[in-house]
Amino acid sequence: MMDALLHVDKITVRFGGIVALDKVSLDVGRGSIQAVIGPNGAGKSTMLNVITGLYAVDGGAVSFEGERINGRAPHTIAQLGIARTFQNTELFGEMSAIENVMVGLDRHHPYNLAIGMSHGPGYRRSEIAARREARDFLALVGIADDAAVAAAALPFGKQRRLELARALATRPKLLLLDEPAAGLRAAEIESLNLILLNLRAEQGLTILLIDHVMALVMAISDRISVLNFGRKIAEGNPDTVRKSPEVIRAYLGEKGAHALGA
Ligand SMILES: Nc1ncnc2c1ncn2[C@@H]1O[C@H](COP(=O)(O)OP(=O)(O)OP(=O)(O)O)[C@@H](O)[C@H]1O
Ligand SMILES: [Mg+2]
Repeated sequence: MMDALLHVDKITVRFGGIVALDKVSLDVGRGSIQAVIGPNGAGKSTMLNVITGLYAVDGGAVSFEGERINGRAPHTIAQLGIARTFQNTELFGEMSAIENVMVGLDRHHPYNLAIGMSHGPGYRRSEIAARREARDFLALVGIADDAAVAAAALPFGKQRRLELARALATRPKLLLLDEPAAGLRAAEIESLNLILLNLRAEQGLTILLIDHVMALVMAISDRISVLNFGRKIAEGNPDTVRKSPEVIRAYLGEKGAHALGA
């Protein structure tokens, strides 16, 4: 790919005897929405954990904007402009929605620089600015009305959106989403699709997502990579992947064609 924002080059990750990823390569083009799919245990989350620096590779390399990032600490990688959400939502349950987003605000934000200093007028001003900004991120994902609600008290679908807002608050160039549609109802999946398409259109965001939910993956991805037992078995646009006999067979078994909408 000409302008790959993220370039994953033949990475291998082993856990004891398990080869979670076996020389897997992946290019994510700037401004694209790409998906990684595959059955349970295929290595999808491992891929995100490698990109974000949580797991080390046993072979291969990952570069972001042409710079090698594997081997760097997670916070360093985050500062370069990669944000993520997790397969299991990780929010500060007792804090309000807006406070959860304020935590995510760019670390250079005056509010974050002011934390730890006295609660003087400077702190107060930056806190007001931070709240305003955080509210904008809540609005982007459609939950501005829930700003004051404790994260744990939000219904599940809104918690997932809140996690997305918090990731956006770091102003990433690349957003990684691990199963953002898991557990969502059909109407919620449709709004998530619109939110993600808008983020790309309006913020120029590049998105790499993992999901089992075809109503998300097939609807918004430019390109899909399919993993099975740590190997990439197919790649292409939704139509190509949906019709790939190998994908239908290896990934989904006999019910595959139906599940993929082929
Ligand atoms: N920290 C770890 N320690 C040991 N084994 C691990 C670890 N993380 C992942 N694995 C193993 O690596 C393989 C790939 O796991 P991974 O979580 O990447 O799969 P996945 O494609 O995300 O699956 P799912 O759809 O169930 O989330 C599995 O066999 C898993 O048990
Ligand atoms: Mg996973």
